[in-house]
Amino acid sequence: MTVSDRELVDAAIAVRGNAYAPFSGYRVGAALLDEQGRVHLGCNVENSSFPCASCAEAGAISAMVAAGGQRIVAIAAVGGRRGLEDCTPCGNCRQRISEFADDATRVLLRDGDGGIRSHAIEQLLPGSFRLRRDGG
Ligand code: THU
Repeated sequence: MTVSDRELVDAAIAVRGNAYAPFSGYRVGAALLDEQGRVHLGCNVENSSFPCASCAEAGAISAMVAAGGQRIVAIAAVGGRRGLEDCTPCGNCRQRISEFADDATRVLLRDGDGGIRSHAIEQLLPGSFRLRRDGG
């Protein structure tokens, strides 16, 4: 079964409802499609000790790795305070995505009109840092 871009964005919107963001009020949801066709979800989880906060994309990537997934086919991220705003992955999350992305990976973001725009990770984080993997 294939998951459409719209379904992935809708899954990100739904999981955003579980975000724990009492300090910033900015709630983020992420939904990731892996190379096995499975969807993994994440939301931001803040903390009284602010630097301990974790991003929605980080949660979705951790869920993918824990489930044995290896590549991000597509990842949708949505966020905002009251409603949805223009939300793009932070610098750390661009690097996190890059680790499991290839040239075909699509980062799905909402544009100003609520449409879906697909971005390549190379657009969002040109020339990103990569260590060669063991044996690779
Ligand atoms: N946040 C994410 O979850 N993902 C991003 O890519 C950007 C920022 C969260 C972190 C924090 O809980 C809130 O949004 C405001 O920065």
